[in-house]
Amino acid sequence: MIPHGRIIVILIPVKFELKPFRIGHIVVKHPVVLAPLAGYSDLPFRLLCRRFGAAYCTTEMMLDRMVLVCGKLHHRMMAMTGDDHPLAGQLIGNDPAEMARAAEELCRHGFDVIDLNFACPVHKALSRRRGGHLMGSPKIVNQIVDAVVAAADRPVTIKVRQKLKSADADDSFWEIAEHAFGAGAAAITVHARSVEAKYSGQADWDFLAAVKQRFADRTVIGSGDVTCPKKAVELLMHAKLDGVAAARGALGNPWFFRQVCDVAGGDAPYHPSLAEQKAILLEHFQGACDLYGSQGPKIMRKVGIRYARLHPTPTKIRMAFVEVKNAAQWHDVLERHYDDGVLQASCT
Ligand SMILES: Cc1cc2nc3c(=O)[nH]c(=O)nc-3n(C[C@H](O)[C@H](O)[C@H](O)COP(=O)(O)O)c2cc1C
Repeated sequence: MIPHGRIIVILIPVKFELKPFRIGHIVVKHPVVLAPLAGYSDLPFRLLCRRFGAAYCTTEMMLDRMVLVCGKLHHRMMAMTGDDHPLAGQLIGNDPAEMARAAEELCRHGFDVIDLNFACPVHKALSRRRGGHLMGSPKIVNQIVDAVVAAADRPVTIKVRQKLKSADADDSFWEIAEHAFGAGAAAITVHARSVEAKYSGQADWDFLAAVKQRFADRTVIGSGDVTCPKKAVELLMHAKLDGVAAARGALGNPWFFRQVCDVAGGDAPYHPSLAEQKAILLEHFQGACDLYGSQGPKIMRKVGIRYARLHPTPTKIRMAFVEVKNAAQWHDVLERHYDDGVLQASCT
């Protein structure tokens, strides 16, 4: 019996249908994809993300001329396995002919999609007129897109920012996007910040909505402030995008993609137990050691720090991972701070 004069509010969890989308002929089954992440979106991490639902991943950016020379770096960045598909290889560079040759190499190597980076805000890229710098030079971007589309026998996509400087208008963006789709690009990923803003301030989700409105029948993937699974669903709903890219939100949390399904279904996001976190940390460590050899523990130190936020005492765990210099110390952190009962990984 509801008493007179009182309003009862019943909270019904919002359900949201997660729809597949296409990149050219490729059907991507989960609309939340793993973003390109320099130093993180390598083979071991991608495989874990895929296990928990990521249906599409992108490598970290690879310099076009590094792709064209053989060597350890080339081998590690381009590493993939049969279950790591569909996979985009991301290129960064500024010379149309060199980018086209690197794209051909990525096609030969077995990447499913070639993604072109016109978004990177780091000083090294900008000072060499690559990445985000090119948001101020749409003519060069257009030449690169034309050359790569002509060279690649599979879908080509671009990753762009909203603009170069925060005070700029969006004209360059629209010129680049119109040209790219006209030239045959299969999708565009938009990080809704200026290059100048790097990763600070709020991403402009209204701009992402405007991009999707303008290119209603094209594939548009949004990026920016997808900090948790709830935000991923909110961005999909807000901007009516085909997909969103999980970047910082997925670092140290390969369960992110499964959690998105939970949230979309109206449930609380799954939280892995300490024993499960430990098992995944061990597997991630083993994968890194297989790929990077003796560099594995050093690389995994920064990765462990990212996982710490899932632990009940994140600051303590972060500090423990900061100290790690070798495999024995890595295992020691896991033994001391995570539930036991799983086999130790070895490192060569
Ligand atoms: C550590 C780190 C590395 C990144 N590396 C790349 C990269 O190699 N290529 C790229 O296109 N974007 C890269 N990004 C940008 C992300 O893909 C994403 O667009 C950006 O972080 C915005 O999403 P977020 O606010 O949800 O993190 C990187 C971001 C971070 C934090």
